[in-house]
Amino acid sequence: MSTGTLGARRAKIAARTLRTDRWWFAPMLNAAGLTLFLVYGLVRIFHDSSYWVEDFHYLAPFYSPCLSNSCAPGASQFLGTPIPALPAWMSPAMIVLVLPGGFRATCYYYRKTYYRAFWFSPPACAVAEPHKLYSGETRFPLIFQNIHRYFFYLAVLVAAILTYDAIDAFHGKDGGLGIGLGTLVLLANVVLIWAYTLGCHSCRSITGGRLNHFSRHPIRYWAWTQVSWLNARHQLFAWLSLFSVMIADLYVWLVASGTITDLRIIN
Ligand code: FES
Repeated sequence: MSTGTLGARRAKIAARTLRTDRWWFAPMLNAAGLTLFLVYGLVRIFHDSSYWVEDFHYLAPFYSPCLSNSCAPGASQFLGTPIPALPAWMSPAMIVLVLPGGFRATCYYYRKTYYRAFWFSPPACAVAEPHKLYSGETRFPLIFQNIHRYFFYLAVLVAAILTYDAIDAFHGKDGGLGIGLGTLVLLANVVLIWAYTLGCHSCRSITGGRLNHFSRHPIRYWAWTQVSWLNARHQLFAWLSLFSVMIADLYVWLVASGTITDLRIIN
């Protein structure tokens, strides 16, 4: 039985929508933003070089953590290289991007965004979808969206690793403390990554869920309040962190390849 606009219980309206505003603008913008990121990501993971700046300890976020013997010398200081050398067609980025990629792909906000932007399911509120059937996320493959909570735990790990990278980027050319524009870019990126990660709906449920009395759990109530603030801005931080990770990665790429020189503030 059709559950789309032709469904028996749907209003019999011939027009696909009665909206007269620019309802198509947001999905179009979202499709453009996500496509830009996907194209950049694809180019970057196959590029497999210029992701580590030895002088300043800048590691590109797309290649962090760098866990393989194939990694550039020095790029694997934090966790070592537990993975052997990779075949020529593989880059170290392909191994680690599964975690942040899975986290974002199953995020409640991004789901809404790409369902609307790419699948038109539906394209916007009160605009009929072109599909005849609707099964929600109850069947393969969309039923796997429910593993989002587990991706959240892994994303916390990734954010912690990126935090290490940002701290490590306070490294001067002559050793000791150093600060450059790259340090600030990596730092800003990790702040936005945390704002996005901790604003996750799963995190809100973990901090404040299954409680009958907030008054008896003041610490969890405080944590839930902070997470709720971030959660209310989840869309904002989803986009800001998506672009910040791309900008930080591109910056390291440009410095590592010698295309630009890092602007140094200290050492
Ligand atoms: S709901 Fe968006 S990251 Fe969890």
